[in-house]
Amino acid sequence: MCGIVGYIGYREAYPIVIKGLKRLEYRGYDSAGVMLFDGENLKVSKTKGKVSDLEERASKEITTNGSIGIGHTRWATHGVPNDVNSHPHISNSGDLAIVHNGIIENYAPLKAELIKRGYIFHSDTDTEVLINLIEEVQKKDNLKLGKAVQVALNQVVGAYAIAVFDKKTPNEIVAARLGSPLAIGVGEGEFFIASDASPFIEYTSNAIYLEDGEMANIRLHKQMKVRKIKDDSLVNPTIQELQMNLEQIEKGGYDHFMLKEIYEQPSVIKDTYRGRLHANEGLIQMAGVEDNLEKFLNAERIIIVACGTSWHAGLVAEYIFEEFARIPVEVEYASEFRYRNPIINSKDIVIAISQSGETADTMAAIKLAKESGAFVFGVCNVVGSSISRETHAGAYTHAGPEIGVASTKAFTTQITVLTMIALRLAKAKGTLSNSLFHTYLQELVIIPEKVKEALETNDRAKEIAAVFKDAPNCLYLGRGYNFPVALEGALKLKEISYIHAEGYPAAEMKHGPIALIDEHMPVVVIAPKQGHYDKIVSNIQEIKSRSGKIIAVVTKGDTQVRELADYVIEIPETSDALSPLITTIPLQLLSYHIAVMRGCNVDQPRNLAKSVTVE
Ligand code: AGP
Ligand code: GLU
Repeated sequence: MCGIVGYIGYREAYPIVIKGLKRLEYRGYDSAGVMLFDGENLKVSKTKGKVSDLEERASKEITTNGSIGIGHTRWATHGVPNDVNSHPHISNSGDLAIVHNGIIENYAPLKAELIKRGYIFHSDTDTEVLINLIEEVQKKDNLKLGKAVQVALNQVVGAYAIAVFDKKTPNEIVAARLGSPLAIGVGEGEFFIASDASPFIEYTSNAIYLEDGEMANIRLHKQMKVRKIKDDSLVNPTIQELQMNLEQIEKGGYDHFMLKEIYEQPSVIKDTYRGRLHANEGLIQMAGVEDNLEKFLNAERIIIVACGTSWHAGLVAEYIFEEFARIPVEVEYASEFRYRNPIINSKDIVIAISQSGETADTMAAIKLAKESGAFVFGVCNVVGSSISRETHAGAYTHAGPEIGVASTKAFTTQITVLTMIALRLAKAKGTLSNSLFHTYLQELVIIPEKVKEALETNDRAKEIAAVFKDAPNCLYLGRGYNFPVALEGALKLKEISYIHAEGYPAAEMKHGPIALIDEHMPVVVIAPKQGHYDKIVSNIQEIKSRSGKIIAVVTKGDTQVRELADYVIEIPETSDALSPLITTIPLQLLSYHIAVMRGCNVDQPRNLAKSVTVE
């Protein structure tokens, strides 16, 4: 999600908020806005577009004086990027203002209840529901702002980092966080609130990082109070003396955005299934699928069109859809599909996968499919992107902005969305037993924990990277669900380290590539316990007998492959179908460290762009 900035103190708030929003620009966003209070008037200016567009609009729309302000750069999750959906959102009375990063999962029932109580809504966002819920609570129980925010948040399910202002008590801002980051800069007679410290690092290096489930009542000339949202108990926060420089802060303390995004995968996989996966109730609910369930169930074929890493996610989906939902699936490079005069009919469903939602080849494939009468479903990471608007329906990944050109968290969140769709269809078609359906739901819920555990292979990956960083070539092998992961691992290595790498189905080795094996050829083999294990062991033996250097990704506790491989990386066990979410992690880390050791520009590799909007 994107960025929030707040200021309360003795300076002019506007320049601090605007410069702070620009400091959060690296997080990528689709719209921006600011609220200022000058002692009398609550002033708001907000717009689709960049912070520079906001500056231009604000200069015409409002007077920018005032020593209290909150601002926002939006990464839309509910409601397309446009002026009215931008933040800050104002309550019906006009007294309260909020900026929010995150997702209010249960916004729909809350909104319905508020509408019943006479509230009107101008936007499609979940955030506007939250500010009116706070207002309703405040009015009903005649509460001060902090208490009203607390009571309201205890009715909310989801993730948030918020800053809330009430013009009735103008010397106060209330901040709270659950699942989205929030830092408070503590100055002399002034406070700063921000998604990270970059907006206030030049004013103060004293920062408090709220923990999940905490809120802060920030009042001028008074002691800031931090308490737990759940039980109102006071917290004694630690003020940290920040040593990081601006660039380090933008990357969350990581050396590169790619590494930061690799480590974000546990939380963004959770964000992606949040509100959609209800394991205890045995439910998967995705509006875009529910509204078109009949189409999916009557489909004769699913055609997946995508490019690059998204195409690899599509290959994983082919295995999952065919195994779970028994629907024939074809996966096509969008760039080939659009020109080969494919046979498409109205009984086909086309799923277009794209992180950026702007890839020209994928867009062209979508248009061709629509002209041929197919129903087109999009899986995108950018709300309101061209592809998300061109498709008939869709489901967003909630990976947040992916800045590194090498796609990592987009891949795992795409697989998460596609797995949920396949499970939902399998349940509706009865092609998966109830018990297996529940098993997969439970397993999906704990995948973030297993991804977190897989991230602990970082040091091991770094050790191995040091051994192979100068290899001229590398082979990646996998079987079944992990064949696409072999392709993805090879793509990661070649696009950021410039080492030639190829992914292959392990069994294909003997049909040619095995001629490449000698003592100079590193071979990464994905060999988890689940899924063709014995076969892959034989493939490893074939490589071993030709002196290939074997780096094996194995299930923790594996002994057989350990005997054969030169290097092993151990990952937690999971089901075969969900294993790509785990096996890809060490491959991302391995390619990252090799690229760093080779002095490559990890976040902006040569010749590449984050979004290929040309043919
Ligand atoms: C992946 O690491 C590459 N950056 C690239 O292959 C990318 O996946 C491809 O260009 C597709 O982009 P999209 O998902 O935004 O459509
Ligand atoms: N869910 C909110 C919206 O869509 C906030 C998104 C964000 O984190 O920027 O407006």
